Amino acid sequence: MISKLKSLGEEALRKISQTNQLESLEILRIQYLGKKSSLSDILKGLGSLSTAERPTIGSLANQLKQEIDQALENKKCELEKQVLEKKLKEKTIDPAIPSRLPHRGSLHVVTQTTRKLIQVFSRLGFDVMTGPEVETEFLNFEAVNIPKDHPARDMQDTFFLGPGVVLRTHTSSVQMRALRSKPWPVRMLCPGAVFRCDSDATHLPMFHQLEGLWVDNGVKMSDLKGTLEFFVKEIFDPKAQIRFRPSYFPFVEPGAEVDVSCFICNNKTGLDCKICKGSGWVEILGAGMVHPRLFELAGYPVDQVSGFAFGMGIERVAMLLYEIPDLRFMYTGDVRFLRQF
Ligand code: DAH
Repeated sequence: MISKLKSLGEEALRKISQTNQLESLEILRIQYLGKKSSLSDILKGLGSLSTAERPTIGSLANQLKQEIDQALENKKCELEKQVLEKKLKEKTIDPAIPSRLPHRGSLHVVTQTTRKLIQVFSRLGFDVMTGPEVETEFLNFEAVNIPKDHPARDMQDTFFLGPGVVLRTHTSSVQMRALRSKPWPVRMLCPGAVFRCDSDATHLPMFHQLEGLWVDNGVKMSDLKGTLEFFVKEIFDPKAQIRFRPSYFPFVEPGAEVDVSCFICNNKTGLDCKICKGSGWVEILGAGMVHPRLFELAGYPVDQVSGFAFGMGIERVAMLLYEIPDLRFMYTGDVRFLRQF
């Protein structure tokens, strides 16, 4: 039995050392260590051996098993290494090829436009202020001289969150907060989201506005004009001009809608310009001189102060600036659109 075991071991180790393929190594493993192998049979039959034979045969068989196991493992490592080296030789890696860069996100076009606007106005001394999107009905309406029966309060336009609480419909709601927060002079900008119950190709239920307010002793309409002129030249075109059309907003008197000369077709009326529709002018904001009622509500001495205010849609500025044809592109989250900015 001992010599049988020894020759079995020698045969196994020889065959293992001669193998040069992983597949045949597996076959050898089954042949010599598998359930149906002679070694297994011997180990299973140990119980039927005489007590004299059992320990010698047992330990020899176990030792053999370990040796074969170890030889198989070593050979496996050796062959795997060979396979890997062969693969590496076949495939040459060029470490000089630049790797593919992960895509870096960028600021949303509305954020970028907001920052541009703030940068321009801050050069004129405007400070940025924020106000809450959930606002009291008082600050959104009464405080800017919009009385209870005004159509702007209609349920169709305003999202009411509860009695006396709304989602602000404009950033003009921050005007009273600014006036009440500190003594004049006040020169503030307020960018932010506003909400209206409205949705189609040119309106969204949520969009952004930028409010401006300048209150001091002796602020005149010409200051408003100069400020807005500076802004359009900086943002759109150094040759851009503005024009005022009389309009009504309850919180200013006089009030105006302000147009910028079309910087796409250079104010050449009659052309087939998509932006100004051939009129040569594009509406960009509402503005006017602060209504005395606001000063009264804020506790300011009406005879000593005056001011101007303006408000514009930030998406609208972005659309003009980047010639974006549809407002909804900005909020569909399509990266093919967003990556352009
Ligand atoms: N709040 C107005 C709106 O949402 C915009 C506006 C117009 C703001 C005139 C002003 C202003 O400050 O003076 O349409």
